[in-house]
Amino acid sequence: MTTFDLSITDELLSTTRAVRKRLDLERPVEPSVIRECLDLSQQAPTGSNRQGWRWVVVTDVGKRKALADLYRKGVGDYLVQAKQAAEKQGAVQDARVFDSAQYLAERMQDVPVHVIPCIEAGHIAADAPRRAWIGLGGSIFPAIWSFQLALRARGLGSCLTTLHLAYEDDAAELLGIPENMVQMALLPVGYTKGTDFKPAKRGPVDDIIHWEGWQG
Ligand SMILES: Cc1cc2nc3c(=O)[nH]c(=O)nc-3n(C[C@H](O)[C@H](O)[C@H](O)COP(=O)(O)O)c2cc1C
Repeated sequence: MTTFDLSITDELLSTTRAVRKRLDLERPVEPSVIRECLDLSQQAPTGSNRQGWRWVVVTDVGKRKALADLYRKGVGDYLVQAKQAAEKQGAVQDARVFDSAQYLAERMQDVPVHVIPCIEAGHIAADAPRRAWIGLGGSIFPAIWSFQLALRARGLGSCLTTLHLAYEDDAAELLGIPENMVQMALLPVGYTKGTDFKPAKRGPVDDIIHWEGWQG
């Protein structure tokens, strides 16, 4: 029976953060490490084992700039306003997240690699029931997270972002993504400055578990 070193496994699971300010914008990323992490991500589950995923990896400077512009268009003034609102309410952690997100938005084009996970959705009608859309998202997000974990294990970091999706069609045109593919995110990827990430503050787990039913 294979056993895992829990100290390493649990550290990986509890310290894989959304990395923005600590992405190294100067250090190039070898295509081979992206390929290796995407290869590992394919072990993730998919509904009906469809494996309808595709990953668009962008390193071209001009295309990264165009994607960053779409991302910033998607951001608009949302992050600045959200940060101000959080500060007003004394929500320190939230204010830090929005500040960090704004930092990334301003530098998105400088992050060495942009990865856009896509999933084949041609079989799902626009008015399909909620479970169909859950199945679609559920068939790519496990792989995205595996990709992020594999990156972290190799000294790289990423941040799952979705704000460019307001301009998904423009991104599809830019990158030649076919109509039957849905973009799910944009992950800026780079080596991290240091690797000493910490577990985040989360609420007590007992507050979110309902044993045997909601009242339990
Ligand atoms: C569905 C989803 C969408 C997200 N979209 C963005 C985004 O557009 N921009 C961004 O900077 N972070 C985005 N994030 C990252 C979250 O802000 C981040 O996961 C959260 O603040 C917790 O931080 P942690 O992952 O380091 O624990 C997104 C995360 C998820 C799961």
